[in-house]
Amino acid sequence: MKFLVHTYGCQMNVRDSEAVEALMLAAGHVKAATEAEADVVIVNSCTVRQKAEEKAVGKAGNLIAAKKITGLMGCAVKRMGEDVFKRLPKLDFAVGPRRFGAIPRLVERCLTGERRLLEVAGDDEVPTGLDAHPDAPRTKSGEAAFQSYVTVLLGCDNRCSYCIVPDVRGHEYSRPAREVIAEVRSLAAHGVKEICLLGQSVLRYGVRNAAWSPDDPSSPGGYMEAFPRLLEALNAIEGLERIRFTSAHPKGCTDELVRAYMEFPKVCRHLHLPVQSGSDRVLKEMGRRYTRAEYLAAVAKLRAFDPEFAVTTDVIVGYPGETEEDFEATRSLMEEAGFDNAFVFKYSPRPGTRSAALPDDVPTAEKERRDQMLLADQERRGQSRNERLVGTVRDVLAEGPSLRNAARWSGRDGGNRIVVFEPTDAIRAGDIVKVRIVAAHPQTLIGEI
Ligand code: 5AD
Ligand code: SF4
Repeated sequence: MKFLVHTYGCQMNVRDSEAVEALMLAAGHVKAATEAEADVVIVNSCTVRQKAEEKAVGKAGNLIAAKKITGLMGCAVKRMGEDVFKRLPKLDFAVGPRRFGAIPRLVERCLTGERRLLEVAGDDEVPTGLDAHPDAPRTKSGEAAFQSYVTVLLGCDNRCSYCIVPDVRGHEYSRPAREVIAEVRSLAAHGVKEICLLGQSVLRYGVRNAAWSPDDPSSPGGYMEAFPRLLEALNAIEGLERIRFTSAHPKGCTDELVRAYMEFPKVCRHLHLPVQSGSDRVLKEMGRRYTRAEYLAAVAKLRAFDPEFAVTTDVIVGYPGETEEDFEATRSLMEEAGFDNAFVFKYSPRPGTRSAALPDDVPTAEKERRDQMLLADQERRGQSRNERLVGTVRDVLAEGPSLRNAARWSGRDGGNRIVVFEPTDAIRAGDIVKVRIVAAHPQTLIGEI
């Protein structure tokens, strides 16, 4: 059968979709070049905000109307359970997170005429297929892949008031280090230069269960011992050039983590550290377990050993009861932290979360205004932060022709900043090149090899 996977949501979903593609290929199916040509289409859904869920469910509805064998996977399936068939009565199959390994089998059953199949995992289930990669990893355009995601920590136990993730992705589970190391070695042997380790709160790797190798006499460690040790082991893998990881909680910004950044040269000096709000009152309501001052101290710690260390964040505007004063506290925190990039989200109540019981009392137009203000602030801040890098030489992993102007190439520096430059004839996608920065924009740097 010819199949396609459509992905909505976060990097975790991107990685799960890729594993599903590998499993489908291993089961003898082939990837369709276009949607029209596909017999089976699988939609990987997100439910973190209502709009995200609607997009994925809407897409599945269109595919059903186009008479494809349609499957829905991912977070929205776990949230809806059996109700998924009320929303999409003609859906062929639905699979929750941690159960995508069942997809090839479910496709076989659909081919024999079965319909409305549902599989969801328990909160502690250990999935199969987590390490499935295509034999030779490929980019979207078909070249050998030089970047890859690797899931290391599943689920989340933080229980922030607004967040549905723990309900749909289950409890924390850290994959054994030897499994992760074997996966990364194999990727590096296939030419992968850069990996990004994934977890909802990735610095908690190894905290809840023993993730470090039991062969090692000093394992497993307490909070934050396992993760730097994992970085150490990955740093030693030949052929691998860069190690990234996401997302982080400020409690994980310990001295051991800072030491790992300093000691292991492949670890990129960038951290995505969602702050959500700059108001202590709102942070407390959200159950984030840090204050504004603690958050800023974590950022300061990262920038103390490298002033160019890139910090990016997520912010929610319009949380229930967020006043103008709370919002201004978020604005000033963002300025003080000097974020290199920021993603702003309008609060969306999610069924079953603690904050869903509170009135969603910030009007939509006001959420929109706050969103726009933070984005405008970030444009200015991005410009001035990037201007400080003019004249510096950055190591850039060349990704290929830039989307806007195919005569130029783009890539990223260690801080995950987009750098645009003119290629030479010798350059290949996946090369790391030295680029001198000559101009700055809010979201991009312009440079010369
Ligand atoms: N409403 C709006 N944004 C949310 N996020 C998580 N839950 C919600 C919600 N209910 C945002 C947070 C998180 C990012 C992935 O999505 O900022 O970091
Ligand atoms: Fe949600 Fe908090 Fe977990 Fe992030 S850490 S996914 S915000 S519960």
